[in-house]
Amino acid sequence: MKIEILPAQVEDKPVLRHLLQLCLHDYSEFNGKEINDCGLFDYPYLDYYWTEAGRYPFLVCVEGKLAGFVLVRQLEAEKDEPLWQMAEFFILRKYRRQGIGREVAHRVFDQFEGRWQVIPQESNLPAQRFWQRVMEDYQQNNPTREFQ
Ligand SMILES: CC(C)(COP(=O)(O)OP(=O)(O)OC[C@H]1O[C@@H](n2cnc3c(N)ncnc32)[C@H](O)[C@@H]1OP(=O)(O)O)[C@@H](O)C(=O)NCCC(=O)NCCS
Repeated sequence: MKIEILPAQVEDKPVLRHLLQLCLHDYSEFNGKEINDCGLFDYPYLDYYWTEAGRYPFLVCVEGKLAGFVLVRQLEAEKDEPLWQMAEFFILRKYRRQGIGREVAHRVFDQFEGRWQVIPQESNLPAQRFWQRVMEDYQQNNPTREFQ
């Protein structure tokens, strides 16, 4: 299976905006957020991914088709090494439970060296289980990498 993680250009912003709506809809099952009067979920941070340093948006493609996205953010480092946050992570439903999320997360961890912060919403149990599994698997081959 060909999985690509492509840096999202500013021209891709509308695509990401659409995918974000699907992601926020999935989150809403767990965080109870309402849609606004236009029928959309609010997400005030998307523009910053092309205007602020330390933000990295990616589109995920499987066999050349859009299958998800990842938003990575650099946080203030407490130690010398950088601290990265998995700000948003989404795989479209039809592509789930095929190991794609794990492969994408592992490649993103490889790309950004340093410590990682991955904090799924407490009530989002599927995401909790996913990240626990994905980080455990990753640390087996990368025992020095730290997650918080
Ligand atoms: C969470 C999400 C990214 C998982 O993506 P995925 O491609 O289906 O994950 P994978 O197939 O790589 O799963 C790897 C392992 O994680 C665990 N896992 C994944 N989804 C799970 C679920 N719904 N319930 C329990 N465990 C799950 C399993 O251990 C799985 O291994 P297995 O299939 O061999 O049992 C996807 O369901 C999603 O986009 N959800 C909506 C958005 C979201 O909640 N994102 C996380 C924000 S923090």
